[in-house]
Amino acid sequence: MARIAVLPSAVADQIAAGEVVERPASAVKELVENALDSGASAIDVAIEEGGRQLIRVSDDGSGMERDDALLALERHATSKIRLASDLVGVASFGFRGEALPAICSVSQLLVETAPADGAGTAVHAAGGAVQEVRDIARRRGTTVAVSRLFYNAPARQKFLRGARSEWRSVLETMTTIALNRRDVRLTLSHDGKVAFSLPVAGTLRDRVASLWGAGVADRMVDVEDVRGAIQVSGLAERPADVGTASRRTFISVNGRVVRDNGIIRAAEAAYRSTISAGLRPSMLLEVVVPADSVDVNVHPAKAEVRFLDRWVVERAVEEAVRRALGTFDASAALGLRRWSANGASWAPAPADVELLRPAAPDSAGLFAELDAARDDVAAPLDQRAGGRPDGMPGEPEFPPLQPDAEPPPPIVVPPLLQLRRTYMMFEHDDGVVLIDQHSAHERVLYERFMGMLERGEAPSQRLLFPLTLHLTPAEGEAFEAHRELLAKLGFEVEGFGGHTLLVNSVPMPHPRFDAERCLRETLAALTGDRESAAHAKHERLAATVACKAAVKAGDELSLGEMRALFIALGDTKLPAHDVHGRSTIVQLSWPELERRFGRQ
Ligand SMILES: Nc1ncnc2c1ncn2[C@@H]1O[C@H](COP(=O)(O)OP(=O)(O)OP(=O)(O)O)[C@@H](O)[C@H]1O
Ligand SMILES: [Mg+2]
Repeated sequence: MARIAVLPSAVADQIAAGEVVERPASAVKELVENALDSGASAIDVAIEEGGRQLIRVSDDGSGMERDDALLALERHATSKIRLASDLVGVASFGFRGEALPAICSVSQLLVETAPADGAGTAVHAAGGAVQEVRDIARRRGTTVAVSRLFYNAPARQKFLRGARSEWRSVLETMTTIALNRRDVRLTLSHDGKVAFSLPVAGTLRDRVASLWGAGVADRMVDVEDVRGAIQVSGLAERPADVGTASRRTFISVNGRVVRDNGIIRAAEAAYRSTISAGLRPSMLLEVVVPADSVDVNVHPAKAEVRFLDRWVVERAVEEAVRRALGTFDASAALGLRRWSANGASWAPAPADVELLRPAAPDSAGLFAELDAARDDVAAPLDQRAGGRPDGMPGEPEFPPLQPDAEPPPPIVVPPLLQLRRTYMMFEHDDGVVLIDQHSAHERVLYERFMGMLERGEAPSQRLLFPLTLHLTPAEGEAFEAHRELLAKLGFEVEGFGGHTLLVNSVPMPHPRFDAERCLRETLAALTGDRESAAHAKHERLAATVACKAAVKAGDELSLGEMRALFIALGDTKLPAHDVHGRSTIVQLSWPELERRFGRQ
């Protein structure tokens, strides 16, 4: 007797259904995607008992002719592709012709549809078999009602959770779709109560606001970047707000919502050094890549995609988010006049400002060092302002970048005051601002050191008398593990037998820079740190050395030093946060101050 038999199609459909329809939320997703594919401009979703009892999706899309409505319930019947080659760059959500038959095989289904207002068709089916077909009158569009999901598949039904839990997944699924398709009006109700009713939204920000409230939208900054053929846009949570509310993530690739931990991790990497380790930022990101560089047909529920070159995509995401956070910080926090690469300027600083003047001679050390840091990032700014990198007024040393461009405004620095030898204070249009001098300097140095580690240029100072350093075995090991990187930072060190080091050169000494202490504390902090990837290792070393090398709370700063620090901070990518994620800048807004004084 033959032991192999081809399964009857109803059984095969049920098995396939297991992959496509796991629970009510997955049926909702498939039905709404069908509605979207039909060109609907408004979709109504009604759920009962978490979708266990009823899922009804109505749309005003293309509708179906009678024959198509019947065919739609058969496996591999699709209007969306014809050839395997159509799969490359397929734009519709559906393409397999699986969803309706799969749902139909495990429920009682009613499809009512009409290709134009007037004559339409109703199809009744149960457990995959058509029971009744009749003519009806209805508006253009389609309504699919799924009753008693898994009524004939007890094994599957057992795995359904309670109505509340299933409803939560439905709500999550619908929220995701709502974020993705802002061009469609969407309503969702559960047991007769409206959960949301969303008008068409022009932007992701608007959709977020109508879904979760304006407060949530306000806590996000815009991401918008193009890198080669990859486009990344969306919203990312402001570092200062991360961890204050529940986390939300949303990732789409070429218009398809996907779960993609790689992309999420890449975006999180952009936050490194702005938030404490362990905090997870909210992010809603839309990635667009060339259609032939991604495969969307690798997951039964299309929840994952495969990239031709994942690394390139992830780096583009990381860079886009990093830029978004940087832009936000720099423009908002300091109110400092800056020129971005493409020549656009941010809001000017307040009216009562002074021109940047050279540092007082007494502070040449720190000033020169900070000034050098500033040259790294702000050379064009200096050149345009006609200043010299050493801070002295004079003829420009470099030819202007664009000879016929309009002369740019000079760099402006507000009057600065040092408080408690710890904070710098100034006022601007929005309020009073306090800057933590150590955190600020640390941020400046961190970015400078990162530049040195990644681009490799090390202005160092040869010591007249080499330093001798005796290390513990653990410190010695940390030194060996970071030897090359320390050299890049300007520490020229020779092993001197055992765990004794001879230090010949150190990075940019300034009057307050204690090279020996810095090196020793850095090695102590890096003990046991060897396994990390190169970039993470760079970040950790740069952060450690920056922390040790920065001016401390309690150091008195001259006016020149404060100005130099202010400018250098304004030129960092993330001035508002130190490398541990703490605030560098605290602002007391005028309205808040007025409230405190009872003026408002
Ligand atoms: N709401 C709808 N409006 C108009 N046509 C629809 C609707 N729902 C389904 N159809 C038609 O029925 C066909 C089968 O739908 P089904 O969801 O089973 O497959 P698909 O969307 O083509 O592919 P996939 O299985 O990947 O979703 C579709 O190709 C489409 O032609
Ligand atoms: Mg479909």
